[in-house]
Amino acid sequence: MTTAEDNGSEDTGADRHASAEHRLGTVGVAHRDVAAAEATAANLAWWDADADDYQATHGGFLGDADFVWCPEGLREADARLLGEVRGLRVAEIGCGQAACSRWLAAAGAHPVGLDLSAGMLRHARAGAARTGIAVPLVQATAERLPLADGSMDAACSAFGALPFVASLETVFAEVHRVLRPRGLWVFAVTHPIRWIFPDDPGPAGLTASQPYFDRTPYVEVDADGNATYVEYHRTLGDYVRALTATGFVLEDLLEPEWPAGHTRVWGQWSPLRGKLFPGTAIFRTRARPGAR
Ligand SMILES: C[S@@+](CC[C@H](N)C(=O)[O-])C[C@H]1O[C@@H](n2cnc3c(N)ncnc32)[C@H](O)[C@@H]1O
Repeated sequence: MTTAEDNGSEDTGADRHASAEHRLGTVGVAHRDVAAAEATAANLAWWDADADDYQATHGGFLGDADFVWCPEGLREADARLLGEVRGLRVAEIGCGQAACSRWLAAAGAHPVGLDLSAGMLRHARAGAARTGIAVPLVQATAERLPLADGSMDAACSAFGALPFVASLETVFAEVHRVLRPRGLWVFAVTHPIRWIFPDDPGPAGLTASQPYFDRTPYVEVDADGNATYVEYHRTLGDYVRALTATGFVLEDLLEPEWPAGHTRVWGQWSPLRGKLFPGTAIFRTRARPGAR
């Protein structure tokens, strides 16, 4: 279940990542353990190589100053998972082109967008130029946030960073460190149930073929076996345990339903699958006071 494969255009069937795969020399797929440093290096190269295609394919759907949580199209303007954001200091983790941060700024918040990839941040700067909404942007891994302790009121992430890091606990502990007590941490990830199905938006994607409990990462490799893209799988329980272990209280777990009339296919996310089982999990959590 890969975001790499999921980044597809409107179900054209075209090879959606041919450009990035060609540049990185991807020749195949492996399932093997990957240590943190190798994963970070592979994903930095991947997101730089895929940034233009990602923006070309999804930029229109995600908007220039809009906060779309997931391929189901749930918007923060409607969901209000962060509550009233006016005046809040908000860290967006894995911000990509930073449309969410610009929406937050337009709503009166003080966001900072953080992302590993200079290529993705280049599109964030282009978005700022198009909209006239500039937000601070920082190139950094979510595993080591260059933010002061307790300096943020909230943190959020729409499919940023978490699928690609070796240790959820490392990122959650960093987010907890930079949040004030009772600060919100809200993040969207691929719903773990999707792992068990082939990455296909059509009928072939309805038959379970992969054990839910197998956490072995999905890895794309070059001719020498080096990782060119890495994505980790966690069960729902893994997320809850990592949150609890790092000082968060889980307030809600949203599984957005596929809206009637929503026809856009985003890789493996499709109306066909969306009406049968969830594609996105959104965790709304809060930093436990005194847990630091
Ligand atoms: C699927 S994109 C999501 C981007 C944006 N949130 C959106 O909704 O379009 C994943 C983003 O996570 C970033 N990312 C990957 N690994 C990261 C890491 N270790 N630390 C920070 N960002 C990372 C990528 O560069 C990419 O911009």
